Amino acid sequence: MAFPSPEREQWSSRLGFVLAAAGSAIGLGNIWRFPFKAGDNGGGAFVLIYLACLLLLCVPYLFAELALGRNSKRNPVGAIRAIRGHSLWSLVGGLCVVTGLAIFSYYAVVAGWAVGYVFRDLTAAGASGAAFAQFIADPLWVVPLFGGFLVATAGVVAQGVRRGIERWAKILMPVLFVLLCLIAFRAVTLPGAGAGLEFYLTPDFSQVSGLMVVEALGQAFFSLSLGMGTMITYGSYLPDDENLVVAGSYVAVFDTLIALMAGLMIFPAVFAMGQNPAEGPSLVFVVLPDVFGAMPLGSFVGTLFFLFLAIAAFTSGISLLEVFVSYLVDETAWSRRTAAWGAGGVAFVIGLPSALSQGAVPALSDLSWLVGDRLLGPAPGVLDVVDFLWGSVALVLSAALLSVFVGWVWDADDALDELRTGDGHAMGRWVGPVWRAAIKYAFPAMILTVLVVDLLYGVL
Ligand code: TRP
Repeated sequence: MAFPSPEREQWSSRLGFVLAAAGSAIGLGNIWRFPFKAGDNGGGAFVLIYLACLLLLCVPYLFAELALGRNSKRNPVGAIRAIRGHSLWSLVGGLCVVTGLAIFSYYAVVAGWAVGYVFRDLTAAGASGAAFAQFIADPLWVVPLFGGFLVATAGVVAQGVRRGIERWAKILMPVLFVLLCLIAFRAVTLPGAGAGLEFYLTPDFSQVSGLMVVEALGQAFFSLSLGMGTMITYGSYLPDDENLVVAGSYVAVFDTLIALMAGLMIFPAVFAMGQNPAEGPSLVFVVLPDVFGAMPLGSFVGTLFFLFLAIAAFTSGISLLEVFVSYLVDETAWSRRTAAWGAGGVAFVIGLPSALSQGAVPALSDLSWLVGDRLLGPAPGVLDVVDFLWGSVALVLSAALLSVFVGWVWDADDALDELRTGDGHAMGRWVGPVWRAAIKYAFPAMILTVLVVDLLYGVL
């Protein structure tokens, strides 16, 4: 049985935790992934289903991760070991920390692009598709940006929970919010913005499909930073008198607000400028620069937007790296500094193929020599494969295993006790039993369904 070390750091206040955890949740997922998924899936109906998944599944699951972390005061591996001792379940914790580092390695690549867009004016109207392709294929831009992002992230994580993660979240999250309000205001006041608002806010239920539900659920998991122990780790720095349900709910509300507002800034602008909302992953990097290029004050708004994206990605990157670092700090004799720089260095090495996979090295851009031709669609590059394997499959798999662990191995009743610690009213007489049943039966079943659909969809 592992015991929490007496000197384990804690957040200084509820606000500190909420900002750090919201900083983790709010990232590329909200501003890049959510709008393009909504755009691909017909707008309003997707948004509504996303909200339902969030409320019914993701938020209750978030409580489970927070409870596990706070109860054990450990990283994901240590948390599982504290409850179950040395067993095969430790491997689930291992899967979490490895997934964290793997996602971090390519997340930093995309974040580096966002940073690059702050400095390079790519808003040349009409030409941004080619400019983007050229930019991400140029190793002299992409590798230093990727490396720089890693160094900045590792620097913050090395400073520790309070002095690093929490302090930076407190500085950056308000900046983020102000930027978002400015951009959304500019977007909704464009002439012709109404069509975008309608697309985004009016659900068209004829568009609903099974795959769309699965996509919405996966997106909700990714957006709330669930499935690989980020919230176990951040929960482990919470004091015992904190109300997990209230603190967790704040995080979910902020994350959702920002995702919804990201849609509010993107769709009106895209429609006002006569662009296509269903452009997929290039929506933010290609379509938006065109939009900015064609609108009054565009290049200023464009710079603000990518600054916004870079900041959001930064606080999320911090949380991805922190999971692996907390593992090293808890389970080895390494100091936090050594662990942060060491993990950052490993992320650089494993992320390099992703960074070079967008045209810099042709063998990495097109993996047909390795995976053969897929039945549907073009052969993927390293970045696509890594994102699929770690960002979808591994993430969903560990989420399913974690919810089985909390529901059956740790036991849902003990988890419920932990949730009630700090505030007896947190989970009332009715909500408690529903949560208990959900974590034992409904979540594993639903998450596994997502996994199967993901695999079928990804392999075909
Ligand atoms: N939630 C972040 C985003 O929306 C990304 C992220 C950070 C994440 N930590 C995570 C995703 C853990 C999944 C799991 O961009």
